[in-house]
Amino acid sequence: MDFLTSSTHLHITSWVVMLVLFFVALAKYSKGVHMALRVFYIFAIVSGGALFLEYRSGFEYDIKFTFAILTIGMMEMVLGKKQKGKPAGVFMALLVVFALVTIFYGLKLPMGMDFF
Ligand code: HEM
Repeated sequence: MDFLTSSTHLHITSWVVMLVLFFVALAKYSKGVHMALRVFYIFAIVSGGALFLEYRSGFEYDIKFTFAILTIGMMEMVLGKKQKGKPAGVFMALLVVFALVTIFYGLKLPMGMDFF
């Protein structure tokens, strides 16, 4: 599956669209946007999973993978709480932390952009 692993562009596109859809759902919840968001979870997991299988070298890849999944989990928690009209502050805070850790490791690891 060369098109998934020859660059990180598809992966980046997947999670950027995912984040945008999350904020759209957060601002104005609708079932349709939530469904579209879930499709992009799959794209992010498949594109990230392909990079993972191709390039994994060391435990930092496992950390990246774990925090990415946790980030997606927190998105679901926040939207679930919002829908029920319950406070989502704790999950929102965890989401921000997990997302930053995921992006940090993504940029630290050697494929694509390598900032840290
Ligand atoms: C919350 C969603 C996600 C975010 C915000 C995210 C963020 C990033 C970022 C910023 C990069 C660096 C791209 C580059 O330097 O060109 C990256 C690469 C990568 N991501 Fe994700 N990602 C997410 C989901 C996932 C998932 C679910 C997996 C695994 C199943 C995954 C595995 C990878 C791998 C293996 C790389 C390549 C690392 C490298 O060698 O540089 N990502 N991701």
